[in-house]
Amino acid sequence: MTCSFEKTNSSDFLIQYKEILEISWSNHSIDKHFDNKKSVNIEMSLDSKLIGILIGHYLYQSSDLDEFEILHIAILPNFRNRGFALNLMEELEKLLNINKKSLKIFLEVSSSNKFAIKLYEKLGYKAYNERKNYYRSKSINASHTQDAILFAKSLDAIR
Ligand SMILES: CC(C)(COP(=O)(O)OP(=O)(O)OC[C@H]1O[C@@H](n2cnc3c(N)ncnc32)[C@H](O)[C@@H]1OP(=O)(O)O)[C@@H](O)C(=O)NCCC(=O)NCCS
Repeated sequence: MTCSFEKTNSSDFLIQYKEILEISWSNHSIDKHFDNKKSVNIEMSLDSKLIGILIGHYLYQSSDLDEFEILHIAILPNFRNRGFALNLMEELEKLLNINKKSLKIFLEVSSSNKFAIKLYEKLGYKAYNERKNYYRSKSINASHTQDAILFAKSLDAIR
């Protein structure tokens, strides 16, 4: 079993498996994200088969500090609960800190997404705020909403 990671500018995998990767964006929004020069996207393969993706973008870049936001991470359902999302998050941290700057990574997650929260906490992300009723279910008139939890992690520069 060989895992590999690759930076990508292609939205094909995410668009093809949009529903099962649980991303609610339109295809247009996904394509716009991949066209953004500040975006960083990593695909994960297992024995050459694509099984997951992480997408994000730089919010701020200076000579000594980078701020980055993870917008989505998803693993195909048959490959979940085997530590692959953890591997993908670690790959991102390695890749972003390659120039040895200080780095802050931000993300937000629904308060009901227990597995994702577990993943972020295991990697040292700390909840720093919340947005009440941020996620609405698919129907615009739905009364059912979920809070968003905002997480951040600082990776100090290696000197
Ligand atoms: C969230 C997601 C990316 C996690 O991927 P994954 O590869 O299953 O994650 P990992 O295997 O690295 O596991 C992360 C933690 O969740 C737990 N977990 C994941 N699936 C689980 C399951 N079905 N039952 C019990 N625990 C589970 C793992 O055990 C692990 O905790 P642990 O280290 O304490 O054991 C995946 O569930 C997914 O793609 N979800 C849909 C998209 C999504 O919600 N993305 C997050 C948006 S913010």
